[in-house]
Amino acid sequence: MMNKLQLNRRDFLIAGGVTFAGLTIGGKVLGQTKIDPTGRTVIPFNHKWLYEENFSNEKTAPAFNDKNFSRVTIPHTNKMLPWNGFDEKEYTFVSVYRRHFRLPQELKGKRVFIDFGGVMTAARVFLNGRDLGEYRGGYTAFSFELTDGINWNGNNVLAVRVDSTERPDIPPFGGLIDYLTFGGIYRDVAIRAVNPVFIGNVFASPQNVLQPNRSLRVRTILEGFTSGDAKIKAELFDGEKMLAEKTQDAAGTQTDLVIDKPGDVRLWDIEDPKLYRVVTSLIINGKTVDRYETRIGFREAKFTPEGFFLNGKVLKLRGLNRHQTYPYVGQAMSARGQRRDAWILKKELNSNMVRTSHYPQCPHFLDACDELGLLVFEEIPGWQHIGNKEWQDLAVRDVESMIRRDWNHPSIVLWGVRINESGDNRGLYTRTNDLARTLDDTRQTGGVRFRYQSERLEDVFTMNDFGFPLRPPNHPLYFITETNGHMYPTKRQDNIERIREHTHRHARFHDQIASDAKYAGGLAWCAFDYNTHDYFGSGDRICYHGVSDIFRIPKPAAGFYRSQCSPSEEIVLEPGFDWARGDENETFTRALVSSNCEKLKFYVNNNFVVEAEPDRKTYPNLKYAPFSVNLHSAIGKSWGDLRIEGFIGGKLVIERKMSGKGVDRELRVEADDPELFADGIDMTRVVLKITDEFGNVRPFASAALTLMLEGPGEIIGDNPFSLAGGVGAVWIKTTEKPGIIRLRVKHALLGTKTIEIKSMTPPKNGSLAI
Ligand code: GAL
Repeated sequence: MMNKLQLNRRDFLIAGGVTFAGLTIGGKVLGQTKIDPTGRTVIPFNHKWLYEENFSNEKTAPAFNDKNFSRVTIPHTNKMLPWNGFDEKEYTFVSVYRRHFRLPQELKGKRVFIDFGGVMTAARVFLNGRDLGEYRGGYTAFSFELTDGINWNGNNVLAVRVDSTERPDIPPFGGLIDYLTFGGIYRDVAIRAVNPVFIGNVFASPQNVLQPNRSLRVRTILEGFTSGDAKIKAELFDGEKMLAEKTQDAAGTQTDLVIDKPGDVRLWDIEDPKLYRVVTSLIINGKTVDRYETRIGFREAKFTPEGFFLNGKVLKLRGLNRHQTYPYVGQAMSARGQRRDAWILKKELNSNMVRTSHYPQCPHFLDACDELGLLVFEEIPGWQHIGNKEWQDLAVRDVESMIRRDWNHPSIVLWGVRINESGDNRGLYTRTNDLARTLDDTRQTGGVRFRYQSERLEDVFTMNDFGFPLRPPNHPLYFITETNGHMYPTKRQDNIERIREHTHRHARFHDQIASDAKYAGGLAWCAFDYNTHDYFGSGDRICYHGVSDIFRIPKPAAGFYRSQCSPSEEIVLEPGFDWARGDENETFTRALVSSNCEKLKFYVNNNFVVEAEPDRKTYPNLKYAPFSVNLHSAIGKSWGDLRIEGFIGGKLVIERKMSGKGVDRELRVEADDPELFADGIDMTRVVLKITDEFGNVRPFASAALTLMLEGPGEIIGDNPFSLAGGVGAVWIKTTEKPGIIRLRVKHALLGTKTIEIKSMTPPKNGSLAI
């Protein structure tokens, strides 16, 4: 049988390596890590940071004795946490980071900046004791210029005061929010040295993509430019092959250059997400003084009264919302972990779109969306609450930061410019919409609301509808951005009725979305369980709203999403229940199975019981409707193992067995990646599971597993680890030493399993270490 997940795991590894080499920050691909005395030099700056939990002013002084600080790498969480049952007070404090560095003499005369991808929630940066200012906002990238304060002949000390409290002056805070924000310098940092005049940003946007007059508009924004002989050159590359180029005079700080004939390019599509490179050069007095590289895709994306169109073809949007928070490390997940979420959404959950609820998400995640063909609805930080004028100014700034950072991602097809689920505010939302349209004339805006009658200043009416049946579209461009969630929190160990209903609710939502072309699509709440405040969630401060758990391990409802693909991609048969006779009230009745087969046959104890076709009565509009079968009377006669056979074209194509014995049989330990980079940053997830003899999770297994690690790595997570719902996960993080990391996991009755992960010397690519 074809196994799509395994096939694509290899692609993912390869893509992961590429991203590592071409570190991404602030939406710019920073390939040039060699010193370039004539142009731009970018130095990754994620190592050798020193950290302490308690900030005080004297710790910003260059001479402060920081020998008791811990040495850390970025991404970094200000506090390691358990995966559930903790208070946000644990991490809402002000901490301090320090970094000693010397800059190469060759860079003298350049303008030098430090670029932060994301610091939660506010960062005050000091260079050699001098206060450079505070950046407020944890989800957007920012830079400080270091030029004037650099000591070129000796040591420099950067100190960062990181305020991770929930400051009411900064979005999303000021009211309640249903998620946690965590703390620390949690996204990549880099030092950037450029000439006095340099390229600040490039917006490369394909135009008239579906027409014969297709072109590429390259908008170049210069910094430090007043006047003089300056030219902009733009080159379009397919890999290393140059397809087209054009040079023209700079028209001021912003120049639009149009490449009329970009050549016979392939479109970027969800099936074939073809990417191209655009390299823009700044030439002053005949000399190239800067080069700026970005990635693009040629595609046309449009919401219309007839639905959403990608490249001229209607595409029903189907997907989930995602928080970028993880167990133990909060938001400080490595590039590989961030990228993996995109892979899970696209390949395991067969989604074609994700909403980055409720903030601009990690650039590594968005890069993976581009590479995998996963569409994105990205939005500004916020949750129901709108603050005062100053707060609103920050929200408007967030619109600008988000768009300028991410405008080259082909995966992003809609900007969310409204605070999630806030009330109407004509003043604020006129500003955010106008700004979005001015900055980016190629994408539509949306703004998520739960009030059906609210004012629409955006292009697309993006609506959270938690009821069922869904309300009919009341605007021509209508898109449902949340459903389910708090209406039906579900844990893997909940009883069978609830598990089945959870799966059903996701299926019926997409069934109704499919019933009417006027719904552009539906994104359910949500992909992964997440940590939250005390006002929300279950008693352990988790919103069990995911179709996968907080460890990203699929619950039965995830099987519904997985089954929504053509059998030519993958044949899916996922039971939406645990096989236990007495876990349902009274007795087991109905089996709900998510599958893209044409027919299923059920056997109990090897006796044929019933055969079934997809349940088209309940789900008349779904292409791959789940199967719903009453097994009550069959079970009345005998009990034993369940076998389900799946048929397509009369042929047996898949078989699934579930044990009826009720015994924990096997310990499984599965690492996502067999190889990592020995950089002290890279991590992989290791899933821990207890299964029956056929590989099905045993949702009541709760054993404590003991983990033993040898070699150059570290366990991120609880040890011993007590299973929840029969599963769990820890992450293995590398050190800067290559070698074999060996993890042994011991279960008192089922024995010990050992896995090995190879930690390899990272690709050098001429990268600088300072
Ligand atoms: C929505 C909200 C989400 C989440 C969800 C839970 O109202 O936008 O952030 O809280 O409810 O169902």
